[in-house]
Amino acid sequence: MIAAVIGGGTMGAGIAHLLLAGGHEVVLAEAGAERAAAAQAAVRASLEKAFQRGKLDRPVEDLLAALTVVEKLADVPAELVVEAVPEDAELKRAVLAEAASACPDAVLASNTSSLSITRLAEGLPGERFLGMHFFNPVPVRELVELVHHPGVAPEVVARARGWAEALGKTVIEVRDAPGFATSRLGVAVGLEAIRMLEEGVADAEDVDTGMRLGYGWPMGPLRLTDLVGLDVRLAIAEHLAAELGPRFEPPALLRAKVERGELGRKTGRGFFTW
Ligand code: CAA
Repeated sequence: MIAAVIGGGTMGAGIAHLLLAGGHEVVLAEAGAERAAAAQAAVRASLEKAFQRGKLDRPVEDLLAALTVVEKLADVPAELVVEAVPEDAELKRAVLAEAASACPDAVLASNTSSLSITRLAEGLPGERFLGMHFFNPVPVRELVELVHHPGVAPEVVARARGWAEALGKTVIEVRDAPGFATSRLGVAVGLEAIRMLEEGVADAEDVDTGMRLGYGWPMGPLRLTDLVGLDVRLAIAEHLAAELGPRFEPPALLRAKVERGELGRKTGRGFFTW
């Protein structure tokens, strides 16, 4: 299959990696020459890491031969388009509308982790649009969350499930609701961990060790917030607070850290120093 991925950040590059490793041809769109080059480098770095870990059955160069990085999607005979641009509804709507005309036969999927799929579907050919939510790091985490809205065709959901399963993922299907099934719970625990820090219940290391060793999480909720990005978590929490009420109100400590530019791993400092 030919698949298109729009957005070459952490998630887009990870999704491109996954599709290439699954034997698909990938067209990756990222605006601007500099960002397109960075996206290409990110896919290469991720594939090299997987190769070093013995997770790829073909050399990295062979897989990269099936990757085309473009600055704009135009007339691509793709069967699947995955949108993975930043969590901005207007931006997503615009790139999805462009993809709908550039790829007239494709299933259109958004990797949004919290925005309403029903609202994104407005103005799109909704029967071929759904939420297809991957997890970071995409090649490693085993889940794909498929998000339905009332207008999606059942065969489109079935095709998305088939692709995800063929890529080795386990699928859950969720009705469109704020934060779906995963982000809602993940953010709830993350925000409570920050409130516990504010209240001096334990330090960051011990809060995290509690969930890692007591509950078997691969990493604790604060380190995970650092990995995802405090700014990303804050934006999701604000959206969930608006949709679901004050239980998702972001803690003052989260706002303060974001204001200070302590965004987590990407800036070298969040709840931990990286
Ligand atoms: N392909 C590419 N990279 C790979 C890889 C593979 N097959 N296998 C491992 N790696 C990468 C890891 O991502 C990690 O990268 P960094 O060096 O950048 O940290 C590195 O290789 C080391 O991997 P290890 O498995 O040796 O390291 P680890 O045991 O510390 O595991 C981890 C790291 C994979 C991130 C693990 O801790 C983990 O899975 N944590 C949980 C992550 C999680 O909860 N993700 C969900 C986030 S929320 C989200 O995604 C939703 C949202 O919408 C916001």
